[in-house]
Amino acid sequence: MKLSIAVLPGDGIGPEIVEQALNVTKAVCLKFGHELVYETALTGACAIDAYGDPYPESTHELCMRSEAVLFGAIGSPKYDNDPTAKVRPEQGLLAMRKKLGLYANVRPVTVFPSLIERSPLRSDLVKDADFVCIRELTGGLYFGKPQGRSEDGNSAVDTCSYNREEIERILKLAYEYAGKRRKKLTVVDKANVLETSRLWRQIAQEMAPNYPDIVTEYMFVDNAAMRLIQWPASFDVLVTENMFGDILTDEASVITGSLGLLPSASVGLHTSVFEPIHGSYPQAAGKNIANPLATVLSAAMMFEYAFGLMEEGALIRKAVAASMDAGVVTEDIVLEGQKPRTTTEVGDWLVNYING
Ligand code: IPM
Ligand code: MN
Repeated sequence: MKLSIAVLPGDGIGPEIVEQALNVTKAVCLKFGHELVYETALTGACAIDAYGDPYPESTHELCMRSEAVLFGAIGSPKYDNDPTAKVRPEQGLLAMRKKLGLYANVRPVTVFPSLIERSPLRSDLVKDADFVCIRELTGGLYFGKPQGRSEDGNSAVDTCSYNREEIERILKLAYEYAGKRRKKLTVVDKANVLETSRLWRQIAQEMAPNYPDIVTEYMFVDNAAMRLIQWPASFDVLVTENMFGDILTDEASVITGSLGLLPSASVGLHTSVFEPIHGSYPQAAGKNIANPLATVLSAAMMFEYAFGLMEEGALIRKAVAASMDAGVVTEDIVLEGQKPRTTTEVGDWLVNYING
C-alpha cells in the first residue's frame, strides 16, 4: 500500500519526538512492504518566524492532499508570556482543526501495567482504567464569536456556542465508539448552568433511544473531574464539548502515570491528524530527554484509523509495551533504580524491536 502523510513537527520538543515516530513509521512500512511518501511543513511559532502565519496556506495544502497528518506540538514561551501578542502559535493548531473540519478528538486512556506505580493514584484505583475521551474540537468557547477585548482594554469576552448539527455528529461518533467497546457512554456537560450544555443533553436524550444496547449516563463536568480521580475504571466512553474535554483529558492523562504517553486522533471532514496530547515542553527542547511514546502511539493510531492497518498499529503498541517492560524509557517514566534513556535511544530501541 502507498501511504502519503504530512509531517508537522511544530515547536519545542515537537521535532525530536516526531523524528522518532517517523522512524518507527518507516520501520513498520519497510516490514509490511508499504511505500511511505511524506513531506514536512512548518506550523506554530516556527511558522510565525518564517511566514508570519502559524498555519500557512502551503502547510494547509499539504495537509489537504495527504492521507494523514503526523503532528508534534506547538507553543513557545515567547508567546505564553506575552498576552498582548496578536499572532499566537496556538492559533495555528486551531486554524488547522477548523480548516480540516476536525470536529472530534479521540483520546484513549489506557494503563500500562509496568507504570501503575508511577500514577499519582493508588494502583487498585487505576489498574482497570480503560476509557476513551471524545472531545468536540471545532466549536464551543475556542471558536465562538464574539471573542475579543473592549476598546479600553478593560473587558473581554469569549462565547460558547453550539448548534444541533455540531452536537449530533460528535454524539453519533461517540455512540459508535461505545458500541464497539463496553457499551457505556457518559455525556459530560454543565447542564445545570449553561444553555449550550442543556442543548447537548437534550440532543443526547433524543438520540439515546436509537442506541438501545448502550447505556447513556449524564454527568456534570465538575462531578466528572472528581469521578476520574475517584473511580476511573467506571468510564468507558466520555463525550464532551471542547473546553471541558481539553481540561478533563489533561487530568485523565496523568492517571496513566505520565502526560508523555497519551496519543490522540483528530478526525472529521478532511485529513485526520494524529498527535500526542502533551504540549511543546520548551524547557526540554534540544536536550534529547522528551518522551517520544505519545507520538509513537499516535503513529499507531494513524496506521489503524487513517489506513485501516490494524496489524501495523498493533506491532507499534507491542513495541512500546516491550520498551516499557524492558525499562527503556525516558526520565519522566523511569522507575526507581533504572537508568533514564534519551529520546533517540528509546526511538532506536523501538525501531530495532520492529525490525527484529
Ligand atoms: C490540546 C492543547 C491545545 C488545546 C492548545 C495547545 C491550543 O492544549 O490539544 O489539548 O487547548 O486544544
Ligand atoms: Mn490541552
